[in-house]
Amino acid sequence: MRKLLIIHSDERIQSSVREYLTNEYSFEIDCLANSSLITNADELATYDGIVCENRYVDSEGRNIVGGQNLINFIIDHSIKKPVVILGEMEIDYGSFVSLPSRFSLRDISLQLIKSLNITDEELRHLKMPDFVSVEIANFYQLSNPCCDIYIKMTKTGVDHFVKRIYANDVLDKDIVRRYENNNLSHFFVQKEDFEKLMGQILSQSLTKVVKAFKEDKKIMEISSDTFEISQNLLNEIGITPQTVKLAKTSIVAMTKTVSGSKKLSTLLRSLLENETTYAFKRNYLTSLFFYQIIPNLGWGRGEQLKQTMDKVCYICFFHDILLREEKLLKIHSLDDMAFVDLTNEEKKLVLEHANMTTTLLQEISGIPTGIDVIVRQHHGSLNGVGFPDVYTSNLSPLAICFIVIEKYVVEILKSIEAKEKLKLNSILLELDEFFHLSSYRKIIFELKSLIN
Ligand SMILES: [Fe+2]
Ligand SMILES: [Fe+2]
Repeated sequence: MRKLLIIHSDERIQSSVREYLTNEYSFEIDCLANSSLITNADELATYDGIVCENRYVDSEGRNIVGGQNLINFIIDHSIKKPVVILGEMEIDYGSFVSLPSRFSLRDISLQLIKSLNITDEELRHLKMPDFVSVEIANFYQLSNPCCDIYIKMTKTGVDHFVKRIYANDVLDKDIVRRYENNNLSHFFVQKEDFEKLMGQILSQSLTKVVKAFKEDKKIMEISSDTFEISQNLLNEIGITPQTVKLAKTSIVAMTKTVSGSKKLSTLLRSLLENETTYAFKRNYLTSLFFYQIIPNLGWGRGEQLKQTMDKVCYICFFHDILLREEKLLKIHSLDDMAFVDLTNEEKKLVLEHANMTTTLLQEISGIPTGIDVIVRQHHGSLNGVGFPDVYTSNLSPLAICFIVIEKYVVEILKSIEAKEKLKLNSILLELDEFFHLSSYRKIIFELKSLIN
């Protein structure tokens, strides 16, 4: 078996290259984080070949030409082993070769076959099993895997592979961590998917590294988690991956339907393209709760239910679409309004946005009927103007559902923004105190059942 040393400071890249070469070519592989860790020339000479990144950032943020340092070391100690440098470097002579900074796994393997003189005969002997294992940490930064992912179960001595994550499913670090916490160390993929998947993992990691060098920032900062709606949060609030899928499909369908209206589609696009804004998060989370509980509300089945569901997305994403600023979006009562410094136009907009949006929606053909009514009532007033003192039960059931869910989402986001621990039960308790009518409390009950 041939022995190979991989030197790369990015753990993900290191491990995807290693997994690929181990599985595809049965190399025996050791890894190092960077070339400064090499001190023993005899030890280095025991490898058949070395794969090393061109440069890395050290712990003090300095840019180090690791590949060049390795080559110098090899020349100084007269070690005659082939080296493949990952990323551009001006030293293509003899047994030293460099690959472009966006290399593929195939590039590495072809180069190794050449550099190590691996024969066809040798390659034929290497046969992968039907399911190939991939170390679980490789999946941390993979958001939408390009193929189905399996776990291995062993029953009465026989291995079974069970599909757990579907191709293009939403995946994030927290989901992966949960498997890891259950003592799972490897996922499995079908052998025909293996190369494609490893390529995807590698290219996502490479994009981050290449970008980091371009912007001359530390890689850590680039790959650190940004504030977004994570799968972890969704699990905590009781939203299933199926619901996320449903919401995403509905959003796409809605975008197509409104594409005929220039004004509306421009407004919608700017909302949907900015996923980290407060507006997007609030609308999106509201729609997710809606989709999650709607089947439990006894509003019919089949076609009837589908018609109701079709409306949800429009209500959630359009009701406040005229309010372009976060400070306006955060006004839910006359009291709130008194605390914010507003121009007269802004005041008018806040008080009348529900009614104004209704008028806008009425001009669009092809959207589900009845949305205008719910949008008009979304702050609880029948004519879409102002904020009523009390919530009544003579609103449309969808409007009532919307009012409760949105209030829940507002409180959740408040808590996240304040970096507090999310206490869903106490938020729901507050909602119970706030809404007195049973038509409203029925919705709270459903929200509670998502987490208990
Ligand atoms: Fe709203
Ligand atoms: Fe509103």
